Amino acid sequence: MIEAFHMVSLVSILLVVIFVHTSQALIENAVGRFPFLMPNVHPYRSELYLCTPIRVDYSNNYFIVGFEPNATMNTAHHMLLYGCGEPGTVNHVWNCGEMAARGEDDTHEVASPCAQGSHSQIIYAWARDAPKLELPEGVGFKVGKDSPIQYLVLQVHYMHKFQDGITDDSGIFLHYTKQLLNKQAGVLLLGTAGMIPPYSVEHMETTCTIDEPKVIHPFAFRVHTHSLGKVVSGFRIRDGKWTLLGKRDPMKPQMFYPVNTTEPIMFGDTLAARCTMHSNRKRLTFIGATNEDEMCNFYLMYYVENGDPLSRKYCFGSGPPKYYWRNDESLQNIPDEEASQLDD
Ligand code: CU
Ligand code: CU
Repeated sequence: MIEAFHMVSLVSILLVVIFVHTSQALIENAVGRFPFLMPNVHPYRSELYLCTPIRVDYSNNYFIVGFEPNATMNTAHHMLLYGCGEPGTVNHVWNCGEMAARGEDDTHEVASPCAQGSHSQIIYAWARDAPKLELPEGVGFKVGKDSPIQYLVLQVHYMHKFQDGITDDSGIFLHYTKQLLNKQAGVLLLGTAGMIPPYSVEHMETTCTIDEPKVIHPFAFRVHTHSLGKVVSGFRIRDGKWTLLGKRDPMKPQMFYPVNTTEPIMFGDTLAARCTMHSNRKRLTFIGATNEDEMCNFYLMYYVENGDPLSRKYCFGSGPPKYYWRNDESLQNIPDEEASQLDD
């Protein structure tokens, strides 16, 4: 443990130095490129999720303006980049499989990407055969100094076991600037708790009203379920009119995709998300982190001008059987078909 801690401190200091050094070597508003790669790991078995952290230089603010994946699709099934207050462990590399049963890995410590209870948000997702996403011009995720994001944690999902002696350095080149950007990116996560009855089609639904006086410019969305998800959709509701923000089959690569409309979301608007789940199981399925459980998540990536992103990071509801849109008296004109059917 002490050794591991030393190791990570050393690595962190090194990275801070590199980060500071690289940025000072550049003109203030130039865009730097920071390689955030796996430290030559050896996936010793298949279906392994590994995480590695970097401490962001805490004496400065940086804006991450782009993500350049460096992964071969034969190796990495997906990569997620988390912004954390604290990392899940003090180790250099750990097993951060959401679906990993605890204690099943004797090579790595098992923990979530970010420490429980600390700030945690997904700021980038990569999966094979999916289009690249650039942040809009002038938009960045603020990290470091006075941002809740003090660490970045890279998660790579390795599908296959590696041969002896072969290692991997998949990762992401972070494009960043020290120049103050007036468009800050943020992510709002809509989701539900609840349960799915056996042999059924269930709608897991949530809504929440924007109660902060900000203008939110949505530009990308991502959906996430485990194996029972068929469609996940998200809407903006204003004056009883529902406008689709995005809709995806969650069995397709779970990346960020451009939103259906970039029309702003304002104070007083309601956001809504639905996951349509099909269960052929003879048991109840609960919300939870393992493969046996389900999740219903709709991530909305947006930016705000001249100020911080929303202080609200989550829009979670109790889900079925407690909450349904149809029982919510504040909702009218529910687009029942549009919310559950894929267009193609
Ligand atoms: Cu994956
Ligand atoms: Cu999940």
